[in-house]
Amino acid sequence: MEIYIHLPFCKSKCAYCDFNSLSGQEEGTVFSYLSALNREIRLAGDAYGKAEISTVYIGGGTPSLLDSGRIKSILKVLGEHFRIRDDAEISIECNPESITSEKLADYKEAGINRMSIGVQSLDDANLKSIGRLHDRNIAISKIKLARQYFDNASCDIIVGLPYDTNDTVKEEIETLAPLVNHMSVYALTLEEGTPLALRAEEGKILLPSDDETEDYLELAEEILEKHGLIKYEVSNFASDGMECRHNLGYWTDEEYLGLGAGAHSYIKTSDGKNPIPTPIRFAHPRDIHAYIAGVNCANAFDMIPRAEMRVLDEKDVFNEAVMLGLRTSKGVKSGILNGHIPEELKGFFKEADGYTSLTRAGMAVMNSLLVRILKL
Ligand SMILES: C[S@@+](CC[C@H](N)C(=O)[O-])C[C@H]1O[C@@H](n2cnc3c(N)ncnc32)[C@H](O)[C@@H]1O
Ligand code: SF4
Repeated sequence: MEIYIHLPFCKSKCAYCDFNSLSGQEEGTVFSYLSALNREIRLAGDAYGKAEISTVYIGGGTPSLLDSGRIKSILKVLGEHFRIRDDAEISIECNPESITSEKLADYKEAGINRMSIGVQSLDDANLKSIGRLHDRNIAISKIKLARQYFDNASCDIIVGLPYDTNDTVKEEIETLAPLVNHMSVYALTLEEGTPLALRAEEGKILLPSDDETEDYLELAEEILEKHGLIKYEVSNFASDGMECRHNLGYWTDEEYLGLGAGAHSYIKTSDGKNPIPTPIRFAHPRDIHAYIAGVNCANAFDMIPRAEMRVLDEKDVFNEAVMLGLRTSKGVKSGILNGHIPEELKGFFKEADGYTSLTRAGMAVMNSLLVRILKL
């Protein structure tokens, strides 16, 4: 089983971001949230603590904004209530401006062994326009600092930002590739209601076209492969053996428990005490105050309010295995797709080691292939 822990606090909100995170929260709220999280870990441990934990991902928000003593204490409580494997991958999301040597040393002491650093761009005009709190130099120097403590470091990049050109994308990927052994490259999603979407609607900012953004993604892929960072999922690249085990779990049917506001869980087996229909997906309330109140009123993990809950039927299980598995370069177990790929589409698929995956051309038209394969 995997564990995701959500820390929904940021120093300020970036112009493109629709993630469940808030800025400007008072210390009292942060304290109440962390206390509720603590309580939730205990309740979840009572329900699922016997499960072996293979990965932990502390995401946000901006986990690195918090005092590192608080991160240490979250991991300590987690270790007291779950059986975390000795070789577990334990990741934390960090924003460049809040990384310090002291925090890195504390993370290491707490057992964290993987850094995911949000860089987004190395172009200062882009960084300013999307409201990032770091510039190019800070991003580069903090990645180098993190590498002094951790072998395993990733950075996130968004392409399709206002000032992107072929030259800026080429330059930033070439600069970052030698500094990390994993990179996530996302195309900008203009999330409704975000300041960036509003500026774009009002014509106050001009964004690259979809075709240009597609070109930037291809360019990034080409450069990363030259540096030995090979695409293993639609948006993810890694050097050999450095794939993110936690995220791979999401795409390959691993069970996970999401702890914290808005966190999603996927459970395949009942906890034994409270038999529940499985497999099941559920999510906590996104609102941090609703989450805090819900956890504080609950005496057992399954009494914590759920904002969403869905028991998967046979059709859902098939659709999810195909949809998620085909995002990865490994693909899905061949047996699953037997008899489901129409003859005229077979050229978009390849077989290796008992797995069916998409060819490069197939990846480019994945959504239209899925429409033909998924069960309605
Ligand atoms: C949970 S978020 C935040 C991580 C961290 N707080 C940061 O800002 O660096 C993880 C990643 O999602 C990506 N992301 C967030 N919003 C996005 C959007 N609207 N379009 C594309 N990528 C986005 C960013 O690359 C970001 O680093
Ligand atoms: S991108 Fe990261 S730092 Fe920016 S608002 Fe979203 S979660 Fe916070």
